[in-house]
Amino acid sequence: MIVAKTIAEVRAQVAQWKREGFSVGLVPTMGYLHEGHASLVDKARRMCGKVVASDFVNPTQFGPNEDLEAYPRDFERDCALLEEHGCDMVFYPAVGEMYAPNAATYVEIQDEMPKQLCGKTRPIHFRGVCTVVSKLFNIVEPDYAFFGQKDAQQLAIIRRMVRDLSYGIEVVACPIVREADGLARSSRNTYLNPAERKAALCLSRAVFRGQELVGAGERDAEKLVAEMRAVIEAEPLARIDYVSAVDGETMLPVEELTDGVLAAMAVYIGKTRLIDNFIVGGLKE
Ligand code: PAJ
Repeated sequence: MIVAKTIAEVRAQVAQWKREGFSVGLVPTMGYLHEGHASLVDKARRMCGKVVASDFVNPTQFGPNEDLEAYPRDFERDCALLEEHGCDMVFYPAVGEMYAPNAATYVEIQDEMPKQLCGKTRPIHFRGVCTVVSKLFNIVEPDYAFFGQKDAQQLAIIRRMVRDLSYGIEVVACPIVREADGLARSSRNTYLNPAERKAALCLSRAVFRGQELVGAGERDAEKLVAEMRAVIEAEPLARIDYVSAVDGETMLPVEELTDGVLAAMAVYIGKTRLIDNFIVGGLKE
């Protein structure tokens, strides 16, 4: 696997692959990789001639009081996992390679969409995500880009950005990968102490309860949200940020649970903020 630390190296290698007729898939990540990330690499491996992953803890998507410094990092281990899953190149830039000291150009969706759900507690988050993903698209110029359904709002926002800015890139959604006991895999799970790790199961329990209700014919969004909230509220270590049923594209609240509606939540377990969700009618990959 090629380890590229500069934009120039990535551009030269991708240009060569394209001359050789390979399609290119990009898997953007912030590192500290787990089986969720690996599933994106696996899917890219199946769909593309060459697979590029990026491993970059992007400072512009963290708020001033968030966990930028504490965010876990282990590049050696990331490389081993990527190589094992058949990744061809990892882009591992320093912050200075991605952002000039006076960088001041951002990509932002000027709409309600990034202000909903996670945008309420993380007001600059999606501007940072769009800016860095846009940069990665410009650097790698992939044919396909792979994103997890775990970050459902991020996925919807990237799709919107790709459409609005006419990127000729196909965005591919990948299902949520869970631990054996149900907890959605996340780099932030490493923050949880043993008691919190157990308490964190209230998120997946709420998801499974929600899916069960929808499966049994529930169509009232308010009732669904109330039931899911009750599951989380039964856990003393949990504090709800939000539980919402929204339109899968606009992220605006809905009343009726039709196919494609996103039931999403963010919950603090101690100081750690975790997210989980499901799509009514299942994920259209
Ligand atoms: P990160 O949190 O590292 O996630 C990278 C990708 O892996 C995202 O598309 C995310 O949805 C996906 N992913 C994470 N956990 C998953 C799981 N349990 N199942 C399936 N997919 C999962 O998301 C980011 O990084 C950043 O915001 C980024 C897009 C890289 C921009 O900086």
